[in-house]
Amino acid sequence: MADYKNEFGWFAEKPTVEKKIYDRGKIIIGLVVFLVIFTIAFWKNLGKAIPPPQPSLKTPAILKLPEKERKCVEDRQFMREKHMRLLINWRDQVVRTGDRTYINSKGQKYFISLSNTCLQCHSNKSQFCDECHNYVAVVPNCWGCHSTKEQTVAKAEAK
Ligand code: HEC
Ligand code: HEC
Ligand code: HEC
Repeated sequence: MADYKNEFGWFAEKPTVEKKIYDRGKIIIGLVVFLVIFTIAFWKNLGKAIPPPQPSLKTPAILKLPEKERKCVEDRQFMREKHMRLLINWRDQVVRTGDRTYINSKGQKYFISLSNTCLQCHSNKSQFCDECHNYVAVVPNCWGCHSTKEQTVAKAEAK
């Protein structure tokens, strides 16, 4: 009795509600089935490590350079991290000002061209650019318009 009042405001016996999960078995089976299905896509990669990309620098143009001058337009770390930004800056400079000269951080001059400068040295696009890009699943859409040594735009469009 004590001080419990029911919904009519009378003192009454406090009703006890049995704590019970209905259909416990079915719910647990349901949860397990859900978890299995939900995570199934990850299972086939279990324990597999995808080898890191190994972009190749062995192109005729790069091998022709004397060992000391085997450098990119900027230093390696910069290129690794910021080549996308650099390319966009190159594009904007050419399209907006018509100026096709890039002066790098060491004061060296480069002719601005994705196809004729970057891909002159990195003529192995599929073993260089694509090697990394496939690994991180980025697909730059540049090659529909800019030709590569491996595939000219005209050929790509003819397909
Ligand atoms: C729809 C076609 C198209 C696509 C796609 C495209 N571009 Fe261009 N891009 C152009 C045109 C047109 C110019 C101007 C060409 C000129 O004036 O020589 C240009 C110029 C450039 C230039 C400076 C000039 C040169 O020859 O390199 C760079 C760098 C460049 N684009 C980078 C890129 C990058 C990086 C991508 C992909 C992320 C890309 N572009 C995608 C059409 C395209
Ligand atoms: C004169 C030849 C030459 C030109 C032009 C050139 N590269 Fe390079 N690139 C190299 C060399 C050589 C290396 C390796 C640098 C090193 O080991 O210090 C390199 C390195 C790189 C790397 C880093 C690769 C890695 O495994 O760390 C990227 C990314 C890159 N270049 C992209 C570009 C892009 C984009 C352009 C055009 C904007 C370009 N390169 C123009 C010769 C060139
Ligand atoms: C060392 C690995 C590596 C190499 C080599 C490399 N890239 Fe990349 N690139 C990347 C990574 C990683 C990204 C994605 C960066 C991000 O999304 O922040 C990227 C992104 C880009 C983008 C921007 C794509 C977008 O849609 O935003 C362009 C353009 C590009 N790379 C051009 C090139 C070209 C051209 C070459 C060859 C001359 C090249 N990259 C070589 C690693 C590399």
